[in-house]
This record gives sequence, structure tokens and C-alpha cells, in this order.
Amino acid sequence: MTTVREIHAGDLDRLLALQQACFGDEAWTRGMIHEELDRPGGIFLGIGSPLIGFVCAWAVLDELHLLQIGVDPEARRAGLASVLHGALLVAARGRASAAWLEVRADNVAAIAFYLRLGWVEVGRRPRYYADGEDALLFRLEGLGAP
Ligand SMILES: CC(C)(COP(=O)(O)OP(=O)(O)OC[C@H]1O[C@@H](n2cnc3c(N)ncnc32)[C@H](O)[C@@H]1OP(=O)(O)O)[C@@H](O)C(=O)NCCC(=O)NCCS
Repeated sequence: MTTVREIHAGDLDRLLALQQACFGDEAWTRGMIHEELDRPGGIFLGIGSPLIGFVCAWAVLDELHLLQIGVDPEARRAGLASVLHGALLVAARGRASAAWLEVRADNVAAIAFYLRLGWVEVGRRPRYYADGEDALLFRLEGLGAP
């Protein structure tokens, strides 16, 4: 169950349900997911069949932008997001030397998760989200030379 694999079109319905469970109003639509699946430089990995977790990132120039990571609420605190995060860094090896992400300032679970994995808070974007919440900018260095 902890084998990480690429997300494919067959995961779409389950991924939409997970998006709702993880992000609510900010969930990606079917069209947005298709765009990510087709994006050059995109890394879209999943865990479980049926899917119970996913991570999506872009490798742009020598930087990795982590866009989303999410796990089924029923399967959290079992290390699955950590496994996905590790697999993402392996997939990005040789393509990115550092990574960055934005996270909602009120997302206590995600902030604890990123800090635990060595990410460092490097900035804040005020009122970045549609509801007025700030985004915190996190960075992870030392992924290896691209
Ligand atoms: C953030 C998220 C991906 C973590 O997934 P997970 O599979 O539960 O994470 P892990 O089990 O690998 O957690 C690893 C460590 O992160 C920290 N952590 C994770 N969730 C936490 C929480 N709710 N509160 C405090 N610390 C937490 C802990 O240090 C944890 O280790 P521990 O369980 O041994 O204490 C999950 O909560 C989620 O899907 N949230 C909704 C989507 C989201 O906000 N994504 C991030 C923004 S894109």
C-alpha cells in the first residue's frame, strides 16, 4: 500500500474526491487535473489503489515548486505524505537543487509537516488566498546539483 506510482487518467474520479476532502473550495477541477497530468516538467505521484494520497510539483529550471500534497483524512498520521514527499525528491533528483512552496498560514497540520521534513519559512505573501488568508513561503535546500 505504500508503493508510490505515477498518477494516471484512471485515478481521476478518486483524485477529485480526495481533492474535495483535502482542499474543499480550493480543490482542483477535472480540467485543472488534466492540465497537470499533461504539463511538461510536471511530477504527479500517487499512493494506494484506490488512491489515498497524492503529490504534485513542477520542476522549472533548477527549482522544484511543490503545488499540492494531500492524504485521505482517514489515512493521515501514518507516514503516507512523508513517503510521497520522499518519492517526489527522488523523482526531482538531477532536475532541481532547491524547492519552494506556499502554504496557508492557518494550515497548522501542513506547516508542522513541512517543518518536520526540513523546510524553512522564508517569507509571507499577505492576503494571497481568495478568503484573505496569508500564504507562507517555505523553501527546502540541498536537493543535489541538477
Ligand atoms: C498535511 C498532510 C498532507 C500530512 O499528511 P500525513 O500523511 O498525515 O503526514 P505524515 O503522517 O507523513 O506526517 C509526518 C509528520 O508531519 C507532522 N504532522 C502531520 N500532520 C500533523 C498534524 N495534523 N498536526 C501536527 N503535526 C502533523 C508530524 O510531525 C508527523 O509525524 P508524527 O505523526 O510522527 O507526529 C495532511 O494533513 C493533508 O492531506 N492535509 C490536507 C491537505 C493539505 O493541507 N496539504 C498541504 C498543503 S498543499
